[in-house]
Amino acid sequence: MPKAITRYKCQSCGYITLRWMGKCPECGKYNSIVEEVIKKHTTIITSEETIIPLSEVSLLEGKKLSTGLVEFDRVLGGGIVPGSVVLIGGDPGIGKSTLLLQVMERVLKSNSWKGLYVSAEESSIQIKLRAIRLGINSNRIFILTETRLERIISEIESLKPAFVVIDSIQTVYSSNISSIAGTVSQVRECSAKITVTAKKNNIPIFIIGHVTKEGAIAGPRVLEHIVDTVLYFEGDRFQTFRLLRAVKNRFGSTNEVGVFEMTDSGLKEITNPSELFLSGNEIKASGNVLTVIVEGTRPIIVEIQALVTSTTFGMPRRTSIGVDSIRVNLLIAVLEKIGGLQLGLSDIYVNVVGGLKIFEPSVDLPVITAIASSFKNILINRDMVIIGEVGLSGEIRPITHIELRLKEAKKMGIKKALIPIANLPSNKINSSLDIIGMKNIKETLEIIS
Ligand code: TYD
Ligand code: MG
Repeated sequence: MPKAITRYKCQSCGYITLRWMGKCPECGKYNSIVEEVIKKHTTIITSEETIIPLSEVSLLEGKKLSTGLVEFDRVLGGGIVPGSVVLIGGDPGIGKSTLLLQVMERVLKSNSWKGLYVSAEESSIQIKLRAIRLGINSNRIFILTETRLERIISEIESLKPAFVVIDSIQTVYSSNISSIAGTVSQVRECSAKITVTAKKNNIPIFIIGHVTKEGAIAGPRVLEHIVDTVLYFEGDRFQTFRLLRAVKNRFGSTNEVGVFEMTDSGLKEITNPSELFLSGNEIKASGNVLTVIVEGTRPIIVEIQALVTSTTFGMPRRTSIGVDSIRVNLLIAVLEKIGGLQLGLSDIYVNVVGGLKIFEPSVDLPVITAIASSFKNILINRDMVIIGEVGLSGEIRPITHIELRLKEAKKMGIKKALIPIANLPSNKINSSLDIIGMKNIKETLEIIS
């Protein structure tokens, strides 16, 4: 028996040290270093396959299994790959367990396969209650409430299911490692063993992972290397829409998102997200601007709102929800210097309607126009979309997927679009849409006033 080794490991970045420290020298986190005793570490990903030329690798085994949920399949790159391991992360209560139970039912629907739902968190009664809400009742979905990894693997190997869900990786533990469940060593060891099981038996395994306060999957990077695909299920808990986003995918593009809505009978696919974000605001007010963002390869019309009020105390407040606040501050500076708006004595609030988070630069120009519209108290027509990245000298820079965005705008009944001038030439075909090319923010401000 190998000698037990004691090490101290940062639970955030995996940094290893021989003595305890209050602050991790690698990632700078406080109190993240925990003692871990490792008896042996034997996990090596092995398989029985022999050496073969690339030209002779058969693709038959790698055929993707469609779940019938279009939004889900799209994110996975067409369907579930046999023997693949997919990690799905997200905040507690966002709907991970619900999604995977629904997917499992869909996968087993049109065949006689078996599915295994391993719950290391909830009791079988809780899962049953959820299944009742979802209208799922199958004698081919097996529930195993177990936290010991060794038992889970032996059950998988004896049941030979076609689909496995492990809920969640942070509550499963291997007796090879004496540290508690959820630590980096445990999470890594367990997911490596689960991966070996998936590959050996050619069974797709979905692992649910919790997300830390900072928004990364707990036991973070270490886990992402081991699995084939990493998905994030995100959204605002108080809103009903959910986005499923691929951040790593060995079998497809990471550029895809799936859009769902949480209803009282489970998750429903949203095939036209623009409708969801457009509906519900019939009040005409200044500071509201429509734009088209692209999530993955899907255009979505969203509404950006800004509210500019006068500051009551010395320091003006700048708050933004859904758009990066540093970016918003930068745009406010451009608006002051180039646009000539005196915003120094104003509080500025920016919000993306529907709780969506936008990371792409095409939202610059809509943010600027929303702020200007609120400041000057000018209404912006709801049949117009504004799209464009803004540079520090106020110039409007071209953006990607312009055709896709304009097509979506047209489909949703938009009449007019303000876009970067550099994006213009290729788009003369869009006849029914009045497209205006913008060179700098001054031009845009003139058009809206
Ligand atoms: P859950 O799948 O348990 O989330 P997670 O596994 O990510 O922690 O579900 C989270 C929430 O979804 C829960 O608070 C209740 C709600 N919910 C619905 O609104 N409708 C439903 O049909 C179900 C099953 C859950
Ligand atoms: Mg859950």
